[in-house]
Amino acid sequence: MAGQVAGKVALVTGGASGIGQAVAELLAEEGASVVVTDMDELRGPDVVAGIKRAGREAVFLSQDVTSEPRWAEVVGEIEERFGRLDVLVSNAGIGIGAASIIEMSLADWRRQTAVNLDGVFLSVKYGLPLMRKTGGGSIIMMSSLAGLRGAATLAGYSATKGGVRLFAKSIAMECASVGDGIRVNSVHPGIIDTPIWHKIPAGGTASGQNAPIDFEAMAKLAAPLGRPGRAREVAQGVLFLASDASSYLTGSELVIDGGMFAGSAPRKS
Ligand SMILES: NC(=O)c1ccc[n+]([C@@H]2O[C@H](COP(=O)([O-])OP(=O)(O)OC[C@H]3O[C@@H](n4cnc5c(N)ncnc54)[C@H](O)[C@@H]3O)[C@@H](O)[C@H]2O)c1
Repeated sequence: MAGQVAGKVALVTGGASGIGQAVAELLAEEGASVVVTDMDELRGPDVVAGIKRAGREAVFLSQDVTSEPRWAEVVGEIEERFGRLDVLVSNAGIGIGAASIIEMSLADWRRQTAVNLDGVFLSVKYGLPLMRKTGGGSIIMMSSLAGLRGAATLAGYSATKGGVRLFAKSIAMECASVGDGIRVNSVHPGIIDTPIWHKIPAGGTASGQNAPIDFEAMAKLAAPLGRPGRAREVAQGVLFLASDASSYLTGSELVIDGGMFAGSAPRKS
């Protein structure tokens, strides 16, 4: 049976870990040729090697999504190698917490904005022309539950993810108005079990001493389904948005959060 994205060429940023890795693996399983990019030059090639061992097609390109010259090169390499781009998953992102916004340095604010917002902007600026040239496709931007509602210690992160949400809708409107056949949607994961939780300074202090976030305990309390999500469960949503099964979806937001955005559901036991 042909895969759900058979014959498509997909670019996944931040594909060396967590959600991006799961997306790259699932799109490849479902028949896409996948370009995995990441600034992690150790894990990225490993992810691609795993996909290839499973008999699928993938390639790793080293990329810092905040570098504009590198975006031009990456898209140029994709055009040269595959001649087309059908699916763009703008997934690379970082989280920087601060116990209070007044403790957040401007350097941290800018670094987070550079990856989470500039990186997504550049992905569209450079990816869109190739997608248009080859007849349309699907752009999927990784926002967050934190792009739909506030979080006390993650104000800067929320600002970037809220920005991604409306950036996606605006690009969806541009593409619809020119009729280029490109759909654009955002994905909003809740608490997902990935390495990002070990990287976020939790409730950071000015001295930089941070307690690690216990995301398992957090999810047990906060998610109506009572557990963190798995990266693969987010990837399934991305697969749907990447495939022709979602052909009437654009400017939409897919919330994958175990029910957190819907409300709270105190458990009896
Ligand atoms: N894990 C969650 O609970 C969760 C929830 C909501 C949203 N998200 C979002 O999902 C996306 C993926 O997160 P994850 O949980 O898989 O995190 P992760 O840390 O496991 O993976 C992120 C990847 O992005 C890469 N990356 C970071 N900065 C980069 C840069 N400048 N250029 C290129 N690559 C870069 C990292 O090397 C890493 O491989 C992020 O945008 C994140 O904000 C995650």
